[in-house]
Parts: sequence; C-alpha cells; structure tokens
Amino acid sequence: MKVLVTGGLGFIGSHTVVALLESNYDVVVVDNLYNSKIVVKDRIKEITNKEFKTVICDVQDETKMEEIFKEEKIDAIIHFAGYKAVGESVSKPLEYYDNNLNSTITLLKLMKKYNVNNFVFSSSATVYGEPTRVPMFESDPVVEATSPYGETKVMIERILKDIAKVNKDFNVALLRYFNPIGAHKSGLLGEDPNGIPNNLLPYIAKVATGQLKEVNVFGNDYDTVDGTGVRDYIHVVDLAKGHVLALKKLESKPGLVIYNLGTGKGTSVLEMIAAYEKACGHKIPYVIKPRRPGDIASSYANCDKAKNELGFVCDYSVIDACRDGYHFQVEENKRNQK
Ligand code: WQD
Repeated sequence: MKVLVTGGLGFIGSHTVVALLESNYDVVVVDNLYNSKIVVKDRIKEITNKEFKTVICDVQDETKMEEIFKEEKIDAIIHFAGYKAVGESVSKPLEYYDNNLNSTITLLKLMKKYNVNNFVFSSSATVYGEPTRVPMFESDPVVEATSPYGETKVMIERILKDIAKVNKDFNVALLRYFNPIGAHKSGLLGEDPNGIPNNLLPYIAKVATGQLKEVNVFGNDYDTVDGTGVRDYIHVVDLAKGHVLALKKLESKPGLVIYNLGTGKGTSVLEMIAAYEKACGHKIPYVIKPRRPGDIASSYANCDKAKNELGFVCDYSVIDACRDGYHFQVEENKRNQK
C-alpha cells in the first residue's frame, strides 16, 4: 500500500514516516522545507534502513503535485503540511488561511481526479476552543477556535465532513492531537524549532542544555492542581503509531471517523518541569510570569474511542518523552557544533 505523506520531514511527519516504513508501507514524502530540514530524509533511512521517495515542493503547487499522482499509484494520504504556530497565526491570518486551506483543497481536487479515497488529516484539540468540559470527547462541540491556526483546522474538518457526506467512497480520519512531545529514541529525530521556541517542551529542552536561562511559567493562578496550565502531553512515537492504526481503520471503509490522540491524563507546567528534572538529572530554573493571552487552563483528552475502535494505547509516559526529548536536544546540539 502506497501512502503520500505531506510534511513528512517535519516533527510528527518524520516519526510517522518511520512508523509507516516499519509497518511495510511504501511511502512518498512531499515537503517544502518551510519548517523542516532535508537531512531528516537521511535520518529516517538510517533508522529504518528503508528507501522512500521524497519530493521537495509546496503542496499548493498543483502542477508538481499532479506529477506525483500521475507517477505514483497512491492508495492513501496523510496530510501534515501546514503552518502551525498559534501565536504567529494571530498576527498573520491571511497567510494561515491561504496556506493551510489551499494546500488541502489542492490535495482534495487531485484525490478526486485520480480516485484516491483514503485521507488521514492532522487535526488538533484546538478545534474544541475553550472546552465546555475536560476531558474532551470527540462528540463535544467544535466551536470557534481561539486562533486563525485553530480556525483552519475547524474549516478543513468541515470541508472533509461535507465531502464524506456526498462521496460514499471517501474514507477520512480526523485525528485531533493534544500536545505532541518527545523524540525518537535514536536521538536522530525530534522537535528543534528555529529561534526561540513557542511551545513548552522545546523551551525546557533549551534551558536544560544551557541554551536559554530559565523557563517562563505563563501564569500560576489558573484553577488547576497547582495553578499552572494543564495539557495532555503525548509521546510523538505513540502519536505516529496512532496514524498507522487510523490508516488500517480506513481499509474497512468506515467513511468519516474522528479520534482524540492523547494520553487521557493532564500534566501541569510545574509537574512537567519536575518530570524533566528527573529525566535530565539536574534542576531546571523557572520564573513565574503573567498568563499568556489565548491560553486555556486545562486541556486533556478522553481517548476511549481510539482505544476501543483502533486499539490505540500509549506505550510511553511523560517522563519517557522528557528523557527522549532531552537526549535528542543533546545530540542535535553536538551535531550543530560540528
Ligand atoms: C503548553 C502549556 C502554556 C510555553 C500547542 C500548540 C498548538 C496545538 C496545541 C497542535 C500552556 C505553558 C508554554 C512556555 C509556559 N498543537 N507554557 N511557558 O499552548 O497547549 O498549544 O498544542 O495543534 O499548535 O501550540 O502548547 O507548549 O505552547 O503550552 O508556561 O514557555 O505550557 O501556558 O499552559 P499549547 P504550549
């Protein structure tokens, strides 16, 4: 079975490509290197000892994308490619709507033309907006998201639902991720954003390796276990496994299915810092700062549906993810110094 993976050299995409190759899928990767590095291709081959095709192009480039559909007999698509910085999307809404929506529509038009009917979409817990309850269930309302980034996920989910209503041959899995963290145990793949990280774990990793001074804890007056923000942090290798299970589910032609991919447990910022200290073996300095605009107090998943329908169970804990993330950061820093 041949799977086209857009954004396949990115953080979640690369780990999913490893999982697909290890499950004996044929893979074609498309990536424009906007938020990834070409060296990731070689690292995936080093980990899996398997070959796969990589096309460096933008998913919005319909001419180049159509060449792939003509050359390759594609059976399914996993669509990661898209801008994903919540804060940046607030200041650049047009770029986010243009890139995220038009790349998806380009893909869907080519799928229709070439009769490709299996689609796994990288959605997000942000579609729940300010959740009406925690944990969040797939049946909870999809509301106006708290950022243009989140709105692109809401809109794309709506497009896919409308297509599935009229095209009974179309099988689509909406995977709503919570907070992906960690790295591949080899230390070859992980999250290493350019510049100062927006997200908590890559920021902690840079403090733990001496690249940044201290962690800024955005608010300690939330209605949570210790006043700091609570999130559902899922190891990226578990998340990748969830994509392979969702792909298998589509083989049973279920139409449209929706799954939360999380651990089902919430971890506060201070609990995460404590876990990271255990994983790296030394203290992580932090300072309490005012709340970050747009943040919600708590977000974590009910994962019963993925467990019951996909057999999805997480193998790794938050401490495992901290250990693997720290190992990757140390190894990446060594590689960058060469
Ligand atoms: C987590 C917690 C912060 C940074 C992310 C992605 C978004 C979406 C959902 C995929 C919050 C606190 C953070 C820091 C801190 N993913 N924090 N100091 O906001 O849940 O969103 O997951 O769709 O794309 O951005 O993740 O890691 O930014 O924040 O105290 O330096 O850590 O307040 O409580 P978030 P995050």
